Amino acid sequence: MNDIQILGEIPLYGELCTQGSKNAVLPVMAASLLHKGITVIENVPRIQDVSCMVKILEKLGASVTWQDHHMEIDASCLVCSEIPLDYVRQMRSSIMVLGPLVARMGQAVTYYPGGCSIGKRPVDYHVKLLRDLGIAVEECDGRIEAKAGRYHGTELFLDFPSVGATENAVMAAVGAEGETVIHGCAREPEIVELCLFLREMGIETKGAGTNTIRVRRQEGLKDPHYHVCGDRIAAGTYLAAAAATGGEICLTDAPVSYMQATLKALTACGCRLESESNRVWLRAPERLKAIEFLETEVYPGFPTDMQSVFLALLCMADGDSVIRENIFEGRFETAGELRRLGADIEVEGREARIHAGRRLKGASVTARDLRGGAALIVAGLAAQGETVVRHCEHVDRGYERIVEDLSRLGARIKRRSEPVL
Ligand code: UD1
Repeated sequence: MNDIQILGEIPLYGELCTQGSKNAVLPVMAASLLHKGITVIENVPRIQDVSCMVKILEKLGASVTWQDHHMEIDASCLVCSEIPLDYVRQMRSSIMVLGPLVARMGQAVTYYPGGCSIGKRPVDYHVKLLRDLGIAVEECDGRIEAKAGRYHGTELFLDFPSVGATENAVMAAVGAEGETVIHGCAREPEIVELCLFLREMGIETKGAGTNTIRVRRQEGLKDPHYHVCGDRIAAGTYLAAAAATGGEICLTDAPVSYMQATLKALTACGCRLESESNRVWLRAPERLKAIEFLETEVYPGFPTDMQSVFLALLCMADGDSVIRENIFEGRFETAGELRRLGADIEVEGREARIHAGRRLKGASVTARDLRGGAALIVAGLAAQGETVVRHCEHVDRGYERIVEDLSRLGARIKRRSEPVL
């Protein structure tokens, strides 16, 4: 049990440094397996998902040192090609190890990660792309086994721009002879970051950030040194927390160019925003404005990972808002928890209607997923009285020091941990 206790209605003020990006560092760590050598990564966030990825890499035979935010991965010698089921259960994105592992070892085994609380989340696109690349993939009783001899670069096509499947295909393509052209790619910043990292390693990639990415392996890879960019979702969460509490904050190390859709939505809520290189400043309005219609989209649209946080934020707005979730079918579970705080939210299929006029009041609520948990913390910061958010281990998967950071901004917040029975 890992609870966070909050006394709400205190506006947040001050300056905060944005943590490194979870979704950028995880594929980069997986990609370190492609190289029989040493990868150095700076600005690594100290979060649970990164710890889980460290354990996976170690299990495969890599040695990892991780001090503060500096990580070194020595993948010179791998001893195993199976990702244990325990880690697959802990972190769904362990699937992205499949591509680089089969490229490096000629074989890889993982397990079907199954559904999770935000939707079904199948891995069929990942499997299809590997097969189209000439890698044999067998699926049996939830086990996925990939085997490859020599395989050749070819043209791959994605039916939907899946972030993880694009990353897996890019990494698997490094093992191919010649050039691979991937059509229909996701354009998320984390893919751009992965390709920047691969270039540091000496792998030629072109087109990252567009729908078509070309990958070509070069002879003699180099030891890469990579600095993780700021986390656009963590930054958006803190800005939303300031907006919800009527505060004023400045974030440094924020990946401003990657956050345009979130900044636009905050502006639509009436917040004043200014940004300059990697700094962003927000001042909340007297009263937040409703957003008539906000929908999640693939990048550069409004990110699904900000959806729950905006669901919480818009409960404080002057007027009714509608949010449509287009990416994950089951991502409105947080609405039920927000209702416990007094929110008036109706969910019908992929749309949530947030009715204005109810003042949120502290209560005990339960985090059911990472971003949903963060949304409940945002709601708790704005609600009257005391809120307890239970099961914040979900939040710790992606936020490095959420209690300390919010305390620094003036929030009355503390952790109430009890050992797991
Ligand atoms: C990544 C992010 C996650 C973010 C999501 C969408 C990481 C570690 N996670 O997740 O935070 O919310 O992008 O921006 O970077 N799908 C299939 N079959 C597949 C793969 C995906 O049907 O094989 C579906 C999913 O169920 C979902 C949609 O495609 O409905 C998008 O998923 P995808 O872009 O793959 O998300 P992830 O890479 O899992």
